[in-house]
Amino acid sequence: MYLLRSPIVPMDIRDRERSAMEESVPAAGSRMREEIDEQPQVVAAIASELPRVEEAVDRAREAGARFVIYAARGTSDNAAVYGKYLANILAGVPAGLAAPSVTTLYGAEISFHNCLVFGVSQSGKTPDVTEYVGDARRRGAFTIAITNEEESPLAEAAEVVLPTRAGIEEAVPATKTYTSQLAVLALFWSIWSERPDAIETFSSELPAAMEAVLGGEDAVARLASRYRFVERLMVAARGFNYATALEAALKLKETCYLGVNAYSAADLLHGPIAAVEEDLPALAFAYPGPAYQPMLDLVRELRDRDVEVAVVGPGQALEVAGAGIEVPDVVPEVLSPLLTILPAQLLAYYLAREKGIDPDHPRGLSKVTLTR
Ligand code: M6R
Repeated sequence: MYLLRSPIVPMDIRDRERSAMEESVPAAGSRMREEIDEQPQVVAAIASELPRVEEAVDRAREAGARFVIYAARGTSDNAAVYGKYLANILAGVPAGLAAPSVTTLYGAEISFHNCLVFGVSQSGKTPDVTEYVGDARRRGAFTIAITNEEESPLAEAAEVVLPTRAGIEEAVPATKTYTSQLAVLALFWSIWSERPDAIETFSSELPAAMEAVLGGEDAVARLASRYRFVERLMVAARGFNYATALEAALKLKETCYLGVNAYSAADLLHGPIAAVEEDLPALAFAYPGPAYQPMLDLVRELRDRDVEVAVVGPGQALEVAGAGIEVPDVVPEVLSPLLTILPAQLLAYYLAREKGIDPDHPRGLSKVTLTR
């Protein structure tokens, strides 16, 4: 990690708080921490799903799918944002995110002909996602469930099930099921767009690259220690990694109770940047590809406004920011969200510990949330 310019709080306060926290945080292990570590193996295993995903692509094409809609909530919805960029950029297929309430609350009668509707849900039990997918199927959509639970209401509602095979996820904050959803989506759209290079990288290089990023956790722990008194944070990214910004923000909100806003770097410039202040640090995701230069420009702009920026990205981006967590440029940008989210998950875990929060059981949350 590169050195930050100055401490956010005086050292004496940090030390006093640290001893108080050490008394209150149990030293026990954490499922969230273990599940973060399981991700390289989970993603490697998804490469073996190739025949099943190929069949799903064939069936969707035969059904005449020309538009894509993703129905999902929470972390799964952030995976769907990645899926939108994949469909648009790799396959040239228009794609968007569902507003389930139009079906579940308003009873809208949507014509879904020529639509491919994905329901994305770790549990397969989120009621409004399941209802949206079932309704879309009845109204002409070809439907696919991406879920960690093959025996679930969502799996029953859809024509095809693509399992994420992440194993049971116990911690309330989703980690390994998120990257497994990204992996299934990357595989699906790589096959659809006939990109054998992406599929090859997927199985050969990605798991090792994920291991390497997880190996840099000391730098993340130091950043968490620095952020221990931070109550607000701004997160920004663009392109494929916009999903990373949204998911990083969700992890930091639910696991550390921070006030975090995630922005597309472009949207940030359209107004919210006026709200930046010295005590509102920024976390920026920058990875080589078409979105890289705009991200570096944003980092410079934020620094000119005296914002403390930490970057998740390659060494060059860290130099521009002056601080951050290194994620080397070792996979094509399209697969980079499977790497860049890892430091953010670790940051949420370490910061929760710094703040005396049990990362596995954030207050008032359940593993399954029953929204209608
Ligand atoms: O089981 P699902 O994927 O449908 O759950 C969706 C959300 O409830 C879930 O992602 C939630 O936001 C998690 N707490 C995220 O860590």
